[in-house]
Amino acid sequence: MTKAANTIAGRATERLERAVRWLPPRGWTIRFRVQQQPKPVPALADDYGYRLRFDDAVCIEAETEWGALTALATLCQLGAADTLAVGEISDAPRFPWRGLMIDTVRHFISLAHLQYTLDAMWFYKLNVLHLHLTDDQGFRFRSRAYPELASADAYCAAELQALIAYAADRGIRVVAELDVPGHTTSWLAAHPEWSFPDKPAAAPSARFGVHRTCLDVRNPDVLAAVASLLEELAGIFPDQFLHFGGDEAISIGAAAQAKFHRHVVEKVTKLGKRALGWDECLHSTLPRNTAIQAWRSMEARDVALQAGFDCVVSAPYYLDLFYPAEVHYSFRPDADSVAAERAMARNPRLAHVRQGLAWMAQSATFPNFPGPPPRSAGRILGGEACLWTELVDDETLHTRVWSRMPAIAERFWGGAESNADDLLARLAASRRTLAERGIVPEDRNATDEFPDLAPLLEMLEPVKWYRRLLGSAEFERRVSGVGDSVEERPYDANTPLRRIVDRLAPESLASRRAEADLAAGVPMQEWIAGWRRQRVALQNHPELLDELGAASDALAEIAALVAGESNADATALAGPFGEYLLPIAYAVAASH
Ligand code: ACM
Repeated sequence: MTKAANTIAGRATERLERAVRWLPPRGWTIRFRVQQQPKPVPALADDYGYRLRFDDAVCIEAETEWGALTALATLCQLGAADTLAVGEISDAPRFPWRGLMIDTVRHFISLAHLQYTLDAMWFYKLNVLHLHLTDDQGFRFRSRAYPELASADAYCAAELQALIAYAADRGIRVVAELDVPGHTTSWLAAHPEWSFPDKPAAAPSARFGVHRTCLDVRNPDVLAAVASLLEELAGIFPDQFLHFGGDEAISIGAAAQAKFHRHVVEKVTKLGKRALGWDECLHSTLPRNTAIQAWRSMEARDVALQAGFDCVVSAPYYLDLFYPAEVHYSFRPDADSVAAERAMARNPRLAHVRQGLAWMAQSATFPNFPGPPPRSAGRILGGEACLWTELVDDETLHTRVWSRMPAIAERFWGGAESNADDLLARLAASRRTLAERGIVPEDRNATDEFPDLAPLLEMLEPVKWYRRLLGSAEFERRVSGVGDSVEERPYDANTPLRRIVDRLAPESLASRRAEADLAAGVPMQEWIAGWRRQRVALQNHPELLDELGAASDALAEIAALVAGESNADATALAGPFGEYLLPIAYAVAASH
């Protein structure tokens, strides 16, 4: 064995077994042949391809250590029985950037849960963890130069370095984001003199949504602080990319913001890094070596590429919107999105937020193009799913991410075409595997807490898009163009996330099973019995009546409909009931 091969074998037998609690089946010998010498951390251009052969031993051949680690993920996914049938696998990713962004600000995400996240990312062949470190509600980086900015919960340099090493052991890059000039009211509590256009509050804002107040980009002290913080982050994060945010800075004029972005990009470039920013920073004067993270629409991707910018695609992969997996899965980072957008507009689970989706589509505009023609078109680096954590904390993180992320990871890896028809079966199997192998801890779920209410709780889903966050009154105002009234929103950073709705999976697999049974003409007696029973059971939980009474009544009515005892309008029984949706109603409507 070469030295490189020994290192790989060492990782396989020590680090992965310990961290991921995966042991190759007894009797397996794994041989590694890796061409390149190991490097401390992966980079965008590194090869993740591998070849796996099964004969008397398992032979892993790869160009790089990251490819060998990826082959181990495939081995871990395959059962021992599968490998006998397989013979040989030759595989390589479609995109070099296969990312997951975690917002560590709206709710602090502990290092332990970021480590679990990295374990599961390895399992699904994801290779970029993007840490959104600063925002209005907090500043999660304990800077040496500006220690006064840090929140009580913040990561220090040593903790971040340990996390970066942990990620590299799994072939994963870690990209830091310092979000400027918007989303910065947390900075202004410590430095009110940096504020624009209004005087800041004395404490970081607890409310969610876009804030008017931001950094005064004309102030030389602000420019010096941003430069210094970027330099500090560049010293901690070895990755080639450094993210500077650039989103939702609503009170600065376009010209001033473009000038500021250019300044920041030049600073990042001088640090020997490549700048990455959200798509609002698209401007004809932005240096073309900036990479664009397209989040507002797929049009942002197309505008960026046409203007010559490389692009990371995030718009269809927002995990905080409670979408079913099929919605994310229908979008490919590099494909025309018209068919997927049409399917999304027809998806019954999104009917209650249709106006919101339309509002979103018309509000993403790109007024600063066309700019000068590009010398060459940009490249799609890949995709990145985003989890904003207004309604997520350590206790709900893994359900929110891994309920849908494996489907998105398939789109980012690409390769052999998978089947959308058995996507739900694969997702269910994937949840079981993650739990059985202890790759991520199981979040507390609502049915474990109230087993007698299971027939109701397992049929419920949270409402979609930003409807929970906005509340229904604000939702109506938003989509009718009346504007924001953030004071009336139901959640801020101090609202406990301990209600039933927090502990539901974004997509109910039980509802999907019932929907499939209904469509297939399977006898529904057992479902019907449960849906009737729950109504009586709810009487034993008077504290939940306000919250669940309407959904419970609707489910009993659905039972009557399915039993042929009612002629109610099934679609009206889907809700929303407060923050809850009963998607089985759509299948009942379709079957009648
Ligand atoms: C974003 O979602 N504000 C990038």
